[in-house]
Amino acid sequence: MVFIWSLDSKYSNDPGKRDLSAAFSLHTLYHDTQFNKNKKYTVMKRIQIINGPNLNLLGKREPAVYGNQTFEAYFIELKALFPDVTLEYFQSNTEGVIIDKLQETGFDFDGIILNGGAYTHTSIAIADAIRSITTPVVEVHISNVFQREAYRHHSFLSEACKGCIVGFGLDSYRLAVEAIIRL
Ligand code: DQA
Repeated sequence: MVFIWSLDSKYSNDPGKRDLSAAFSLHTLYHDTQFNKNKKYTVMKRIQIINGPNLNLLGKREPAVYGNQTFEAYFIELKALFPDVTLEYFQSNTEGVIIDKLQETGFDFDGIILNGGAYTHTSIAIADAIRSITTPVVEVHISNVFQREAYRHHSFLSEACKGCIVGFGLDSYRLAVEAIIRL
């Protein structure tokens, strides 16, 4: 969580940098806080969703397994369910890019929801990235991988994650948000 409302004293004699600093503080305030009913500022939880390979094709890809809804459409519904949470969504088909995103968000966010797709079953590098960051990671899967092919029964990621939610369709992501809120 980030909550900054201060001017850096080293910029106070430089009007340009001072304005920049003030603008940054306002931006942070806008994104991370809300003015609740009791007229107090509260810090919003920030959760990053990271989807791995082929999950950009949700809605088209094997609908009997993964359903008919795109993740973009589901994400709108998910955000509406949690107005007090800042939810961010990222998808990549590339292992290194997923690792970069884990490193980028893994020290500031309150939680990461990771569906590693098939990298779940192959990637020691993603498992090491999860171990390298401080933000808790919840592993999710749309399908129940344990009812599927044997090669999907092992996850390199689970041991490094705070917990795993498997097999509830896209609702797995909502359950993961609920879990992170309670951490
Ligand atoms: C998946 C399960 C993986 O085995 C598969 O490779 C995926 C999706 C799921 O969400 O059910 O891409 O992670």
